[in-house]
Amino acid sequence: MSIAVIYGSTTGMTAEVAANIASALGAECLNVAEVSADTLAGFDALVLGSSTWGAGDLQDDWEANIGVLEGASLAGKKVAVFGTGDSLGFADTFCDAMARLRDAAAAAGATIVGAGPVEGYDGIASRVVENGRFIGLPLDVTNQPELTDSRVAAWVEKLKTELA
Ligand SMILES: Cc1cc2nc3c(=O)[nH]c(=O)nc-3n(C[C@H](O)[C@H](O)[C@H](O)COP(=O)(O)O)c2cc1C
Repeated sequence: MSIAVIYGSTTGMTAEVAANIASALGAECLNVAEVSADTLAGFDALVLGSSTWGAGDLQDDWEANIGVLEGASLAGKKVAVFGTGDSLGFADTFCDAMARLRDAAAAAGATIVGAGPVEGYDGIASRVVENGRFIGLPLDVTNQPELTDSRVAAWVEKLKTELA
């Protein structure tokens, strides 16, 4: 099965995580600034990642190119989302961009996978939590960088089953 990790990243944090996820999944890693709907349509499953800017906004390249998800028509495809953010500075909008990606992928017909229990964070009141669960993998690379590798490894193991 072919999987692509598509990311948007302003200062390189999400790009680095995306490369690690892609390597662990045996997936292609692509910057959203450089993909078309046709490119995305060629993959069986997608992992979408964005940092969050402003107060809960998508990263700029995703904002400019969010239309590629709808254009790709994701019916029948599985999609998981991850993000990087700052849970102490932005508890109310922590990794909110993940919810934007999820909404756009779901609207394009995708089946969303990769949700998991809320663990390792206190006081998160953002859209990344739904029904007591994380909608994907939120990473606080600002305040908890030492936990990123283990969080990614555990999530990728789950995705290997859920994306199949
Ligand atoms: C002006 C500004 C606004 C930000 N807003 C948010 C936010 O609303 N939620 C959040 O979780 N992180 C927020 N962050 C933190 C970034 O998302 C975080 O640094 C991220 O890892 C950057 O990733 P990138 O280098 O891949 O773009 C903000 C950072 C800055 C400087």
